[in-house]
Parts: sequence; C-alpha cells; structure tokens
Amino acid sequence: MRGKGCGKRRAFGYLLPILMISVLTGCVGQFNISREQEESSAVDEGDLVVVGVSQVGSESVWRTANTVSIQEAFTSEKGYFLLFSNARQKQDNQIKAIRRFISRQVDYIVFSPITESGWDIVLQEAKDAEIPVILMDRQVDVEDDSLYTAWVGSDFHREGNNAGIWLEEYLVEQNRQDEQIHIVVLQGTEGATAAIGRTEGFQEIADTHENWIILEQVDAEYTTAKGREVMESLLIKYEDIDVVVSQNDDMTFGALDAMNRRGISTGTEGDVILISFDAVKAALKLVEQGVINVDIECNPRQGELVEQIIQALERGEEVDKTFYMEEQVFTPENVGEYLDDRDY
Ligand code: AHR
Repeated sequence: MRGKGCGKRRAFGYLLPILMISVLTGCVGQFNISREQEESSAVDEGDLVVVGVSQVGSESVWRTANTVSIQEAFTSEKGYFLLFSNARQKQDNQIKAIRRFISRQVDYIVFSPITESGWDIVLQEAKDAEIPVILMDRQVDVEDDSLYTAWVGSDFHREGNNAGIWLEEYLVEQNRQDEQIHIVVLQGTEGATAAIGRTEGFQEIADTHENWIILEQVDAEYTTAKGREVMESLLIKYEDIDVVVSQNDDMTFGALDAMNRRGISTGTEGDVILISFDAVKAALKLVEQGVINVDIECNPRQGELVEQIIQALERGEEVDKTFYMEEQVFTPENVGEYLDDRDY
C-alpha cells in the first residue's frame, strides 16, 4: 500500500453556488451530491482535501449516527471538502457515485459497501486513477486486496459470538441449559458484512448446543418496518419461540411491536428472550427497563478514525490495513452507567 504524500491533486468540477453558500454561512465544506449538481459549473476547491463518501443509505438509527460522524470528521475547518452521496440501499447508486468521484478526481474515496460482492471493476477504476479508497463499516470481497487502502469497522463475527456466549450463560443462570430452545433470527441485508459476520458468529456458538434449534433466519433488511413484518409472519408460523435474535435495533423495535400486539412479552420477566445489536440510545433504554435482554454494541463513530487514516496518508505514511472499533455488551446490570453519554 502506498502513502499518498502531500502533493495533492487539484480537483475540479464542484459547484460554485454551493461552495459560496458554505463560505458565506461558514458551514462545513460538504454537500449531498446528485449527478445534475456535479455536472454544473466547475470551481477549484483550493487547498481543501476532497473526500467523496458513498453511504449505504439511511435505513437505521445506527446509519444516521455513522453519517453524522463522517460529517463531523470532514469539515472545512479541518481542511476537507466533503462530497456526500446517499445510495439509498442500492449498489448501483454506490457504483455510480464512485465513478463520479473518480471522474471528479477527488483525493480520497470513502465508502460503506452495501454487500460484499461486485466491487472488483469499479475499485480497479479507482486504483487506475490513483485514488486511495478507504472502506468504512462493511467489507468487500475482492480478488486483489490492494484495491483498497484500509478498512475501519466492527468485528461482526465477534459480535455474533458475543450474542451466543451471552445466551449460553443466561440459560445456565435460568437453569434452562438442558431445555430445547427455539430460536428465530432476524438478519440484516443479505450479503452485507454485518449480516454475514453476526450470523456466522452466533451459529458457531449455537452449533455447540444440540438443544438450540434455529427455526428460521430471515432477512429483515435492517429496518423497523421489515422487522415488524417478518416477526409477524414468524409468530404465525411458530407457536413456541423462546429467543429472538435481531441483528439490529431498528428491526428489534419492529419485532417488539409485532410481539406486543399479540400480547407476547419479552426480556428479563417476559415470555421471549430478546437479543439485539447496535446499542442505540432508544434500545439501551429498553435494556435498562428489562424489555431487551442484551444489546451487542456496534460502534458507528468511525469518521474520526477514517480522518486519522487520511491525515497519515497525507503525511506520506504507511497505514495498517484493518482498524477495529471498540465495542461492548450491554445488559440491565451495566447499561445505566453508559446511557447518559449516548448521543444517538
Ligand atoms: O453495517 C452495520 C449495520 O448496518 C448496523 O447494525 C445497522 O443498524 C446498519 O444499518
């Protein structure tokens, strides 16, 4: 992997009116782009480092917090001009955004790939244009890992493992370790690193317990609406669900809705053990109330780390390939001390 050095390419093609607005209002050097906007009149971005970010979408509270952390990290005060593009859950949109960034000759491309496959060609194009790519949150499955410079994100496999280990210990505590335990899993977007890692990590622990029966694993797309819909159909299909593993908090809110409507209670005093992922504030409050048994944290504050990597590359330094976020597991016993500081 090469360090990029201080001799920054000059990029052209940014919107004069929008740049003027940001100067006049003193707001951060960033804006959401559309193709039409980018095709408008050109302006030199001066000394700012131009970073093109392609975000997956805005499907979850976690995703919004992730976007905020990027927007806070790449401000004009810190020397950046941020081009932000929301792919609205479509890989096609991400590929188009990356191509627009390449044709605008941005200094860096940052993106969170919706799924792992399908990136070889566009990333080769970025490499040919000598634009370093930093992956954020999710990973890509490419033949040649020199197609990206670094990745910042969560150890999703470990998160899945942690969910399984927590369940193992909880069942012992409840003296239910020898019972048949019926489990349903609400998965995130099929093919996304987060869904793959959490599914495999949990399965690894489940495989060591013959009495854990995974009734079904269903893609609920990381959204509340889909979580509700999927949970409703699972409740019709299966009468005896002991555990719901929901691979993000937004799906958990939907699943809770579906269960409550049928008079099914969850959590420490409830009928169903509820395991969630992400640990956003609204969910942590439910952990505190005992409605969600455990929430496995996924840390969205990745912007700062991505910015530090870019700083290092600007200084011409080599950087590591992989950066894991710090994360923990929240239960009713420990959640109280963290709740006040949660700002998303
Ligand atoms: O990739 C991280 C996952 O994507 C988060 O768990 C989820 O909330 C998000 O949409």
